[in-house]
Amino acid sequence: MITQEPVQLKKERNLAITWGISFLILFPLLIFLGLLMRLGQGELIKLLLANFYAFMTLHGLGMAGLLFSISFAAVWYLISTRYTKLNLKVGYFIFFTIIIGFAGLTFGTLIGKFGAGWYMLYPLPFKDPTWFVWSIKISIISLTVLGIAWLTGILYLLYALLKEYKGFKNLLGWQFASEIGEHKDIPPIIFITSISLIAAIPGFIVGIAIMCMYLFQSFEPVLSFNAVLLNNMTFFFGHTLSTVTLYCSIAWVYALLPEFTMRVWKTNKALLYCWYASLFLMLISYAQHLFMNFIHPLSAYHAGLLAAYLSTVPPTVITILGVFEQLYHSKIKWGIIPLLFLLGTAGLAIGGFVALLNIYQAFNKILHNTLWVPAHFHSYTLMGIVLFVLGFLFYLFSPINYQQKDKLAKTGFWIFIAGGYGFILMFYLGGFNSIPRSFARYTGTGFKNMHATAVSLSQISVGFIIVIIIGLLLMYISLFFRLFKKKDQQHLTDNTVY
Ligand code: HEM
Repeated sequence: MITQEPVQLKKERNLAITWGISFLILFPLLIFLGLLMRLGQGELIKLLLANFYAFMTLHGLGMAGLLFSISFAAVWYLISTRYTKLNLKVGYFIFFTIIIGFAGLTFGTLIGKFGAGWYMLYPLPFKDPTWFVWSIKISIISLTVLGIAWLTGILYLLYALLKEYKGFKNLLGWQFASEIGEHKDIPPIIFITSISLIAAIPGFIVGIAIMCMYLFQSFEPVLSFNAVLLNNMTFFFGHTLSTVTLYCSIAWVYALLPEFTMRVWKTNKALLYCWYASLFLMLISYAQHLFMNFIHPLSAYHAGLLAAYLSTVPPTVITILGVFEQLYHSKIKWGIIPLLFLLGTAGLAIGGFVALLNIYQAFNKILHNTLWVPAHFHSYTLMGIVLFVLGFLFYLFSPINYQQKDKLAKTGFWIFIAGGYGFILMFYLGGFNSIPRSFARYTGTGFKNMHATAVSLSQISVGFIIVIIIGLLLMYISLFFRLFKKKDQQHLTDNTVY
């Protein structure tokens, strides 16, 4: 632990609040796009096909990017205020570059109608596009800008940690596994963040490489790349991005939950080995997505399947056990922050379990590209990562001793939970009924019954999205009330362990 000057702490907090407020503005806007999509699928409004796919692309890319950005910002804040000094100028540079990237992407999708979906598989963006040709260029340039900003942030944070902990051996906790390295305690947040960021580097390099290839192609249409290679690269990047986001958000639960249970949560051998499994196997586990790509050998898919089980089960299980150990018979007061962390862990467990079912061959054959897929990733993002992010923001915005009093936040929270699970349930039921994903209109399915079921589920889903928005609104009021509370209240991070 380092002790920072109050002025420095304040500056770091301001940066984190800037990130937090940007998240709170962009998140509901992206939800609104989701609402429009469901309204269109439910035939409650007429949504042009071009608009649906532009919304879907911006929603998917925007949400994935937003969650990664805020997760990065949260670990940055906790590390910079507790463990090592970080350069604020680099922090603001990353922030503004990301905002520019988001603005460009919004322009390319909403104005230029770029609608190739969030993973824009090659050669879809270029093949008989219904969108303006310039929108491909602007969207690709914006994504490249985002990729460079993220990679810069990751490399800088790792560099700072390596300097503070004097090399990889200490940073990765080898002193626990052997007698190598300095005997310095390694806090779980540092260890897990490091593991995640190391794994993120190849993923982001590949992501930027894809964008460069797309950029060449957009300027030189006669170029042609190997579609199978690009398919692999895209899944490799997408899978790494979502996993790393999840792991970073778990990292701050390890740091913050103990402040409410008053129990220590230390790094030990079991924790180390479980997360090492993830570090080594996360990078090949993307191959689980290759099952339906018949051109790949089945063995590649099986390797991916095994890697997916071995890389996700150990860290998830050790985290869930850790949360139980923290809470069991503790005298915790159930304020909004621990509630968000507990239910976030439940969302992670549910989404994770369903994902593992999904990739299993027998299920994959039936559920592939049905609404089951959005169901599973909305489970662990909306009901997992988003809850962890809100928990962090409540922590960041709160004065001390202001944890249990807020009924409004808790009311909003339970409404959000009800709406969230209801919304996701409609996706699961869609999956059970073999309703395909990414269909703007269900008239195209060709089956009368399927059309009727899909439309009804979409309509019910609209109701749940409105419930989510109401819950979110109540939590927002509470959040901003905390933020603007009297200045004389001491803030939680003024180096006080709560
Ligand atoms: C209340 C919140 C949300 C609503 C209403 C919503 C709604 C939707 C809808 C209707 C779709 C299209 C599903 C289909 O027919 O295939 C979709 C897709 C998607 N959503 Fe969400 N979503 C929400 C939250 C999130 C969050 C938190 C994430 C975080 C990563 C996310 C990421 C995605 C992605 C990646 C896609 C797929 C886009 C594509 O295939 O190109 N969504 N969402």
